[in-house]
Amino acid sequence: MANKLKLILSENAPTGDFVTVCLIGDGARIVPRLEKAEAASLIAAMGKAQFTGKSGKTLTLYMEDNTYLLVGIGEKLEAGLDAETIGGKLFTALEATAQKRGHMPDHGLAEDVMADLLFGARLAGYHFEEYFTETDSAKESVSLNVTAPGINDEHALIQDRNALFEGVAMARDLVFEPANKLYPEVFAERCKTLAPLGLEIEVLDEPAMQKLGMGALLGESRLVVMNWKGGGDEAPVALVGKGVTFDTGGISLKPAKGMEDMKWDMGGAAAVTGAICALAGRKVKRNVVGVIGLVENMPDGNAQRPGDVVTAMSGKTIEVINTDAEGRLVLADALHYTETRFKPRAMVNLATLTGAILVSLGKEYAGMFTNSNELAALLSAAGERTEEKLWQMPMGEAYDKMLKSHIADMKNIGGPYGGSITAACFLERFVENTPWAHLDIAGKAWSDKSTPTVPKGGTGFGVRLLNRLVDEWKDVNRNEK
Ligand code: BES
Ligand code: ZN
Ligand code: ZN
Repeated sequence: MANKLKLILSENAPTGDFVTVCLIGDGARIVPRLEKAEAASLIAAMGKAQFTGKSGKTLTLYMEDNTYLLVGIGEKLEAGLDAETIGGKLFTALEATAQKRGHMPDHGLAEDVMADLLFGARLAGYHFEEYFTETDSAKESVSLNVTAPGINDEHALIQDRNALFEGVAMARDLVFEPANKLYPEVFAERCKTLAPLGLEIEVLDEPAMQKLGMGALLGESRLVVMNWKGGGDEAPVALVGKGVTFDTGGISLKPAKGMEDMKWDMGGAAAVTGAICALAGRKVKRNVVGVIGLVENMPDGNAQRPGDVVTAMSGKTIEVINTDAEGRLVLADALHYTETRFKPRAMVNLATLTGAILVSLGKEYAGMFTNSNELAALLSAAGERTEEKLWQMPMGEAYDKMLKSHIADMKNIGGPYGGSITAACFLERFVENTPWAHLDIAGKAWSDKSTPTVPKGGTGFGVRLLNRLVDEWKDVNRNEK
């Protein structure tokens, strides 16, 4: 991981040539206290440029003896998404200046507003540069010196946002990594690096999984359990992730065009890992267990064939009609294992499960499928507050029966329509009594466009959402059957 932004929280302004960063409210109101003459010249320049302080607009002014970066904040800058977005835009505008070195003088902002603004700037500064042999780090780096009384690296809110950033960055890194570098064994090793945060990490290899009867998941696989025990004896909230480090489709081979995208078919596992990293880093006072199923889906002499019947850990048999519908097989065993071993108060699984969810919802929302309207409400609220938005999709008997097989308990695909829904119904068959939600994030794990706080590429979608879900946890019931 790398961050283009170097943040310096200090009383002292930098020396030499730098950009003075000023937030500007509606009506060209200058937020920091500046000297009279300085303020007057800025007001004149804003007038000429017709800069009014509209939220999110930025303007760089190269004046005779100083450079200013003005960032509009509208009527009032609120903590949360508003401040994060402004921070992201501030970073991008600062990066575009000649100096790339900024100083933000005291603005008298509330501490939470400041922490969120800096968090947004760090999210925007993330980039993945592992495989460039030539990087000019001097040219690429951006520094922002921030002077705000009481705000320093030891401040609790700054440390909290830093831990959350580490989680998001970890998830983004995992998604960016190509499949020849990040395969199940390596992914599991990366998970182990989180142990110093106070997590219990267990890696189940193939013989261990075979012993448990995980016939749906097997292959070159690993199952990783990451257990955060911040909440004493309570039952944990369980997070479960699909971690297909590359999805060729297997014997039901995918077409060549765009197949490289399938390196991010582990976006669900990355989100779970990043969320656990953030929650442990923040030392949240709850029990949360993350379980990820890691496999590569490859054609090979020993690969599963269409028509094969496998037995899942739950004992149910599955006729594999299409080997490209592999994620649900991985999750079938991971969900059953998690539910029976941990008896969680709820399970949320994340998966880049179907192309069909992109047909339904495009790239704006992830699809949410659940057996609990109460859990849906908690998740939707967390999604709105983090801009990792969810849209609830239907389920039910009419869809579920499309999975009927003539030779086994079920097929692994339904009919030609409603593919995301039949996939969810398949998963539901491996959940007994626990309130459960499945988030299909196939449209969200990767983005070809940047937003203020999410640079294009691996988005880390789900980390902020799950982090917020745990923070705002309330017990939920599953719907009456
Ligand atoms: N990993 C894919 C789903 C996917 C598609 C993720 C596009 C991200 C972007 C999944 O394993 C898959 O191949 N699903 C099939 C299911 C079908 C065979 C029933 C699909 O969506 O076509
Ligand atoms: Zn597939
Ligand atoms: Zn897949």
